[in-house]
Amino acid sequence: MKPQFTLQQYDVAADAILGQTAHRPTVGLILGSGLSALAEAVEQATILPYGDLPYFPVSTVEGHAGRLVIGNLAGVPVCVMQGRFHAYEGYSLQATTLPVRVMQRMGVRTLILTNAAGGVNPNFAAGDLMLIEDHINLAGMAGFNPLIGPNLDAFGTRFPAMNRTYTRRLRDLAKAVAAEHALPLHRGVYTFLSGPTFESPAEVRMLRMLGADAVGMSTVPEAVVAHHAGMEVLAISTITNVAIDELDAEGEPTHEEVQAAGAMIVPRLTQLLLGVLAGLQK
Ligand code: HPA
Repeated sequence: MKPQFTLQQYDVAADAILGQTAHRPTVGLILGSGLSALAEAVEQATILPYGDLPYFPVSTVEGHAGRLVIGNLAGVPVCVMQGRFHAYEGYSLQATTLPVRVMQRMGVRTLILTNAAGGVNPNFAAGDLMLIEDHINLAGMAGFNPLIGPNLDAFGTRFPAMNRTYTRRLRDLAKAVAAEHALPLHRGVYTFLSGPTFESPAEVRMLRMLGADAVGMSTVPEAVVAHHAGMEVLAISTITNVAIDELDAEGEPTHEEVQAAGAMIVPRLTQLLLGVLAGLQK
């Protein structure tokens, strides 16, 4: 089995991006469903559609803009992915996580991940924010891990540890910023499922028994690849809906609901992330 992308290909993409901007981002930011608006705060932005970048897939999901926004946010040079890739779109996990490695080759050392997630913890409500402290890579445990295949030693080791994936210093910073701004911030475990189906009630009950607080269709592959490559990772879930655990309950989750809730949460997420970015420089 060959790696889907070679080190040279990641470098071609990294050089193509750096060749089109004077910014030299050190922090990467991946925006989840409905959270695109955060990119509008980027100053002196260079905007690069994914379709113009070597090897980048094209984002096919509504609510995912599909471009890189490179510039300054809270005084920090950032590379923002306005829209991400998901396995359920039909992309391999190597393609899904390609931008993470490209950012690493560009010099990005800190990756901030955001997502829309279903609340599994009964104390969570739509509109809440959750700091991801740990994950259950359920799809990964079933053989769907982005690091399957030949290891690229230039990025990291064959058998990466996962106990320190979500960098403690960044988690502490996020908690401090939340406290300072009186922003409620849950902490918990995020579970990655491939999607595109939402969970059945029995699956939601199973996830809760396993220790999951939130569930979604992204983030873990990117966090795994970033941690493998030695990057610091901070990840925040926006709880866009409460996962339904009861047969014959009224209503059902929809993508429209997820997007609408995401838009509602953006101001608080923005406040949290701008505080974190400012704090990174101290
Ligand atoms: N399940 C999975 N992914 C999601 C959900 C959900 O309930 N909400 C937003 N993304």
